[in-house]
Amino acid sequence: AQNAKESLYIVSQFASAFFVKQLWETDEGRGIGLSYFKERGFREDILKKFEVGYSPDVWEALTSSATNAGHKLEFLEQTGLSIKNDKGKIYDRFRGRVMFPIHNFTGRVIGFGGRTLKTDKNVPKYVNSPESDIYHKSNVLYGLFHAKKAIRDLDNCYLAEGYADVLSVHQAGVENVVASSGTSLTTEQIKLIGRFTQNVTILFDGDAAGIKASLRGLDMILEEGLNVKIVSFPDGHDPDSYMHHVGAGAFKIYIENNRKDFILYKANVLLKEAGNDPIKRAGIIRDIVESIAKIPDPIKASVFIRECSSLLEIEERILMTELNKMRSAKS
Ligand code: CTP
Ligand code: MN
Ligand code: MN
Ligand code: MN
Ligand code: MN
Repeated sequence: AQNAKESLYIVSQFASAFFVKQLWETDEGRGIGLSYFKERGFREDILKKFEVGYSPDVWEALTSSATNAGHKLEFLEQTGLSIKNDKGKIYDRFRGRVMFPIHNFTGRVIGFGGRTLKTDKNVPKYVNSPESDIYHKSNVLYGLFHAKKAIRDLDNCYLAEGYADVLSVHQAGVENVVASSGTSLTTEQIKLIGRFTQNVTILFDGDAAGIKASLRGLDMILEEGLNVKIVSFPDGHDPDSYMHHVGAGAFKIYIENNRKDFILYKANVLLKEAGNDPIKRAGIIRDIVESIAKIPDPIKASVFIRECSSLLEIEERILMTELNKMRSAKS
């Protein structure tokens, strides 16, 4: 089984090198893929660092190149790089897309995300590698290999949604960033961060989906006993678009100066929804205490109760009673 896995790593590395070569050394790659990245404002050093590539817009470019080089079809199929249709015909999964290789935290290629260059709404924006013996998407954080040293040194991990976000945050000179990409945040991903730091700063998209995901994410992070802060972005921006909008220097300052702790963040988001309705406002207080109840360490939890009490002007004693009720209901 070890050998079979090794073959999947090898064919994935071949594919990664193939896509890189297509991007930089072919007319189609340069004319379509590289100019796409350039138009989005990515610097060459960042594109090279993350080994992004391009998959030609034909049915079998990678499949024939890999098999010609002696790689077995079996392994191309097991990684999902090649697909066999009903009639037994083999074709490339990734065609006419810019390619983001996904590395495990030791730096081996285990899968890919491919972004379409079309604006057609019927074409899926991203196609991703399927699960395989080497790629379990719920256990992977995009960018961790390139971020782990900085995460340890800075004792904080920025957590974004997507591939482009990771590249852009790096481009702003901030290297302690990963993305949950292609899946909603999982407990395994949080545990993986926990091997490098206890501090997570969420940088999700500033749209409705991103806000919803950050509320869910912060509860999951608290439940794992990690500390969490949140930076929100204006006007539907995501970290990538905002970095290119304000520039690298301003972006770095923005994310450093706009970290909110989860209570303040939740209060802001929920109060905006509730307006002046007193019943809804009471619901918010409960909602925030529910998040606090997820924190395993009771001393930490009591510190947040105090903060919540002064922020929302509710007696600490009442919040504590509420917290204890939720705790005993849970166990
Ligand atoms: N995603 C996916 N499949 C989709 C849409 C999204 O796997 N059809 C994943 C990708 O990893 C993507 C992330 O979810 O990077 C966040 O999605 P989204 O915000 O829609 O994309 P962006 O990362 O902002 O992509 P881009 O900036 O290239 O438009
Ligand atoms: Mn590599
Ligand atoms: Mn989004
Ligand atoms: Mn996005
Ligand atoms: Mn984006």
